[in-house]
Amino acid sequence: MSEIETTKIWLANFTTSAEAAKLSKEFLEYLGFSSNYQSARLAIGRSLGEGSFSETAPDAKGMSIKGNLLFDDEDKGGLLWLALLVENIHQHFPNKKITLEDLQHAVRDHWHRGIYLLKQDWDEVEGDYSKFVELLITRRAALPATMENQQIGKSFDKTFLDAKPIWLTLGQIKNSDESAQWLINGVGYSPNIALMGQAGSGKTRTMLNLIQQVYKQTNVPVILLDLGKGDLANNAELVKALNAKVLQIPEQAIPLDMFKRTTEADSAAHILQGFRDSFERSMQSKPGAKQLDAFREALKPLFQNQEEITIQNIKSALDRYYNENKIKTDSVMATINDLIQFKLFEPVSSPPEFFNQNWIITFGHAQETTKKLASCLLIDVLHNYMKCCQDAPTDNEGHRGLRLILAIDESKSLLANRHPGLSNLLRLHRSKGLCVMLASQSPDDYEGAADDYLEQIGLPVCFRTNANSTAILTNMFKSKQNFSSLESGECFSVIDNQTRKIKVF
Ligand SMILES: Nc1ncnc2c1ncn2[C@@H]1O[C@H](COP(=O)(O)OP(=O)(O)O)[C@@H](O)[C@H]1O
Ligand SMILES: [Mg+2]
Repeated sequence: MSEIETTKIWLANFTTSAEAAKLSKEFLEYLGFSSNYQSARLAIGRSLGEGSFSETAPDAKGMSIKGNLLFDDEDKGGLLWLALLVENIHQHFPNKKITLEDLQHAVRDHWHRGIYLLKQDWDEVEGDYSKFVELLITRRAALPATMENQQIGKSFDKTFLDAKPIWLTLGQIKNSDESAQWLINGVGYSPNIALMGQAGSGKTRTMLNLIQQVYKQTNVPVILLDLGKGDLANNAELVKALNAKVLQIPEQAIPLDMFKRTTEADSAAHILQGFRDSFERSMQSKPGAKQLDAFREALKPLFQNQEEITIQNIKSALDRYYNENKIKTDSVMATINDLIQFKLFEPVSSPPEFFNQNWIITFGHAQETTKKLASCLLIDVLHNYMKCCQDAPTDNEGHRGLRLILAIDESKSLLANRHPGLSNLLRLHRSKGLCVMLASQSPDDYEGAADDYLEQIGLPVCFRTNANSTAILTNMFKSKQNFSSLESGECFSVIDNQTRKIKVF
């Protein structure tokens, strides 16, 4: 192999027979592929999997594809394809010095044979997409059922995590000259904060103050979702202090690849399942089981075959499926039609890129559906991203470095949604250095949340409220307090295991 330089291979043309090229085109349609190289790769891979060496193709008159497109870039699998081809040639001709021409011949022949084998497979399953995939995976390739979590996200994990104690000052303890301090990354409790209180009581102001205290000490990335009126977009001081990018949804799209697989173990089916859950929760009326099935079937090929999925792709796939199966426009379609009016998200950054910057994301003019879908999706992506981050380091005393702050203002709708993603974020990623801050008006918003979820709130802060969800408040504050008699700027919180009345401002 020393005879050829890889750069020559990337620039060379690879082709197959005219017949095979024609069949390859047909496969684009069968499998919903958008580019010739996709069916070419599948065919070459299919043929390489056979024990025997491929017979020579009748001609080389098919379409030609440049090496770097056919095999992809060096760091994206190109070298792996070359290794597979070289290995295959060597198996049959151990002493051969391989030239570029040999490689071109091998590609031509494998592609030709492979596409015919795929055609046989396709006919065997009578053109049923799922059966075809199953056949390839289970019988032809005999892939293992599980795969080690490869933590691909790890290499993108650029955050410098500094493990040290991070103290926050909440205010002054009432009738004392002590200040109320809380160690956000102490040992044995969660770093998450819940702020409650009626409108105008001081939640947002306090949350922003706490975020900035952490940010000043750590420079940790902050994702701030404002699910209320969107005022935070105009808070120039905040934007400057956090050096944040502001996104106003729906006028602007979230520049994040929402469906990026961060690990090899993340299956397309799993990502689609997450999307369907989020979509279902953002619909005004709950869809039926049949609708959900159709939704999954319609989007399966898209999620399996395409990278960088947009809401437009989703709409087209649904349209096609509804047409083919003569399904009338229903509430799923109506929801998609609402969503399609805006871009919502654009697959620009990968999750590790996106979550290493500061964002203030507001939904001032967004419809409820848009707001719910975008926030649910973001939470899902964050959960998947966190899963593949390494544990955050701790210092000698066990203080954990912070990786990211997710702060959600006016989080009522998200809490009411019972989205499993949010509870995942609260429960599972403490060890990765995630801190979640939630502001919502009433403790009632936590009603129905499981106890283990409430236990994930390390610092409860409640300003004046008339709500008396006794169970929730007792769980959070460990004792009964009179929350309706709090004065402006006063809250109850739990510091050193004691409920204290605190003057915040
Ligand atoms: N930085 C600030 N300095 C002084 N007053 C503020 C500041 N931020 C907000 N306020 C005032 O404090 C009160 C509480 O505001 P806010 O935190 O937005 O309440 P909530 O989020 O609970 O509805 C409001 O009266 C508001 O006008
Ligand atoms: Mg507020």
